[in-house]
Amino acid sequence: MSHPFSHYQESADYLKTQLEDFVPQIALILGSGLGDLAQEVTQPVAVPYAAIPHFPRSTAPGHVGQLVFGTLSGKRVAVMQGRVHHYEGYPYEDVAYGVRVLRLLGCQTLLVTNAAGCVHQDWNAGDIMLICDQIKLGGESPLRGENLPQFGVRFPDASTLYTPHLQEVARDVAKGLGIPLREGVYYYSFGPQYETPAEIRAIRALGGDAVGMSTAPEVIVAAHCGMQVLGFSLLSNMAAGMLPQPLSEEEVLEAGKAARHRFAPLVLGCLERM
Ligand code: HPA
Repeated sequence: MSHPFSHYQESADYLKTQLEDFVPQIALILGSGLGDLAQEVTQPVAVPYAAIPHFPRSTAPGHVGQLVFGTLSGKRVAVMQGRVHHYEGYPYEDVAYGVRVLRLLGCQTLLVTNAAGCVHQDWNAGDIMLICDQIKLGGESPLRGENLPQFGVRFPDASTLYTPHLQEVARDVAKGLGIPLREGVYYYSFGPQYETPAEIRAIRALGGDAVGMSTAPEVIVAAHCGMQVLGFSLLSNMAAGMLPQPLSEEEVLEAGKAARHRFAPLVLGCLERM
């Protein structure tokens, strides 16, 4: 079932009753390792997803499932603490539901991070990649179904999903902080199983530098409704078959913790300049 525009509107209207005059500027979706940045939001107002009409609830263990509104790096933000993934069983329009609600509340920009496998042979686990473009082949579009013109056009351009001038900001901030930054293409993988070595070779041949199970649907929906987008991947592990060892969720979570001292300042520094 597609959500009619009224669902998004009702979600936004409910949130407005909780926020008084606060209007968020920037939506943040923070993946493995950075979710706790929500705790650094000052004067926070937290609203559980379960309290918001029509809002999909996250089922993943360890995902909190709330929106946190407040100030971070001097910007009025809305942090989605806990995201929902297609592999959990949600349709794509639910995966990206929150993005549209935050757009209705006033957010003009989406800052998104994730953990991803490193497909590029000259890079290393632990590297941070600025996402310059993405590949989502197969599977439905999150925009499938009746177009809601209140958000955007039927056939949206996708030639610059990731906003060029925000990429410039990221390069500049990384340079200033002395944080090495890779740049590349995020390949969306359905999951929940990690890829096979043969799939990784195919993804590399297709132009993917990093592979992960999130982000691409939300970014398509954000760009459709006119939001600017900045995205980073933490390359938490070498992709399947690149090292003589199996992949594990622990490795991904550990890498998130280990990179936090570089990743958090980078994201906060970009926010300040947005
Ligand atoms: N593949 C897909 N998703 C991921 C990976 C990976 O290797 N690492 C973290 N998320």
